[in-house]
Amino acid sequence: MRVITKIHDMVEACNIAPRPLGLVPTMGALHKGHQSLFQKARESNRSVVVSVFVNPVQFASQADFESYPRDMEKDLEFLGACGVDLVFCPSQTEMFPIGMESRVNVGGIGERIEGKLRPGHFEGVATIVCKLFNVTRADRVYFGQKDAQQNLVIKHAISDLNYAVKMFVVPTVRGKDGLAYSSRNASLTAMQRKKAGIIYEALLTAKKLFDSGEFDSEKLRNEAKRVIGLEPVISRIEYVSIADLVTLEELVTINRSALISVALWIGGTRLIDNLILSH
Ligand code: PAF
Repeated sequence: MRVITKIHDMVEACNIAPRPLGLVPTMGALHKGHQSLFQKARESNRSVVVSVFVNPVQFASQADFESYPRDMEKDLEFLGACGVDLVFCPSQTEMFPIGMESRVNVGGIGERIEGKLRPGHFEGVATIVCKLFNVTRADRVYFGQKDAQQNLVIKHAISDLNYAVKMFVVPTVRGKDGLAYSSRNASLTAMQRKKAGIIYEALLTAKKLFDSGEFDSEKLRNEAKRVIGLEPVISRIEYVSIADLVTLEELVTINRSALISVALWIGGTRLIDNLILSH
């Protein structure tokens, strides 16, 4: 496994790497969810490239950026065991030598649900992912279903900007209690982690209601909120959204396939999750 910190070296390494080349963009603090992406990339590419970069332009506050979990040494050990070929871990000044004024504007899809609460977040994500496409010229890119809106944003950017990369979405990896693996889980106390399975339980309860023929999104949202409310460790629900699976517009009646997604706080940790409601 080769670890590269300079853009110039990365461009050269990707130029000579056997193709197809699969890219997994990450912000580090790697876990089993990432591992499933590396495995998927390994199955169908001759080169697997992982980027590890905590992207400042997708954070709304400096405090959130600074408190994002980081452990490069542990991540490199993890990546070595996963059979990755190239790791790209540039510094902030390497990625943004003269600051960063340009942005990939992702339009409406990035302004709904999460985007409403985190203005500029998805532009920051799309910008860094496009930079990674330009550096690696990846043939394939892999993301997890947990970041459903991010996936739609990137899908649009790939199509709108004519990137030749093919995107794959890999199912969410969950713990035994259903909690989706996330780098942010590392910030939970042992007690908070024990209770956090309620998020999946709430989504599943709403999905079961939908599967039994209830298509009123308010009823499903209220049911999910009721289940979450059973657990006092959840300090705040930011949203429970039920939106069209393609446009992410909120639905009153679920008359087509939809995404039920939730964002909430457990103490100082913000977690998101989602499930698909298939019609
Ligand atoms: O999902 C993430 O970890 C990040 O948003 C990504 C795609 C690596 C961009 O910084």
